[in-house]
Amino acid sequence: MELKTVLVAAIVTVILAPGIAVAQKGRISIWDGVYTEPQAERGRVLYRQSCSGCHGADLSGNFETPPLVGRFMPYWSGSTLDALFDYVSTSMPMHNPGSLSPSANTDIVAFMLKSNDLPSGSRELSTGNLKAINFDSAKPVSKHARK
Ligand code: HEC
Repeated sequence: MELKTVLVAAIVTVILAPGIAVAQKGRISIWDGVYTEPQAERGRVLYRQSCSGCHGADLSGNFETPPLVGRFMPYWSGSTLDALFDYVSTSMPMHNPGSLSPSANTDIVAFMLKSNDLPSGSRELSTGNLKAINFDSAKPVSKHARK
C-alpha cells in the first residue's frame, strides 16, 4: 500500500472512529487470523520433513539458505499470499521442487505465518483465498486505530 493511502486511511479512521467501519473494508491481511492452530501444527510436521534440513528447525537458515523468519517478512511485504505459496509450490523443496501437494504447501505456509508471530484464527488457509490476503510486514495502521 502506498504511504499516501495509509495516511489517508489513518486520518479517516481517527476522524470517524469509533464505531463506524470505514477504512479498508473487506480487505484481508496476514494479520487477520488467516490460518488455524491445527493447520500450523500439520505444517510444522511437514516443514520438519521437507524443509528444516536446509532452512533449520528454527527457520533461521544458514550461510547458504535464507531464513524464513526475520527479514523474511519485509522480503515478501507488499505481495499477496499467493506469491509465497506459488514460490514454495514451484521452487521448494530445493532438491525436489514441486513435490508437495497444494494442501501440504498451504499447511507449510500456515506454519511460516505462525513462526513469524502472526495470529491464528478460526478458518483454515486454503488455496482459494490466497490472492485476497495481503502480505503486510507490519500490522495495518487502520487496525491499530480501531482498537
Ligand atoms: C535443499 C535445501 C532446501 C530445502 C530442502 C528447502 N529449501 Fe527453501 N530455499 C533454499 C535455498 C538455497 C533458497 C534460496 C534460493 C534462491 O535464492 O534462489 C531457498 C529459498 C526459499 C524461500 C524464499 C526465501 C525468502 O527470502 O523468503 C522460501 C519461502 C523457501 N525457500 C521455503 C522453503 C520451504 C517451505 C521448504 C520445504 C517445503 C524449503 N524451502 C525447502 C534451500 C532449500
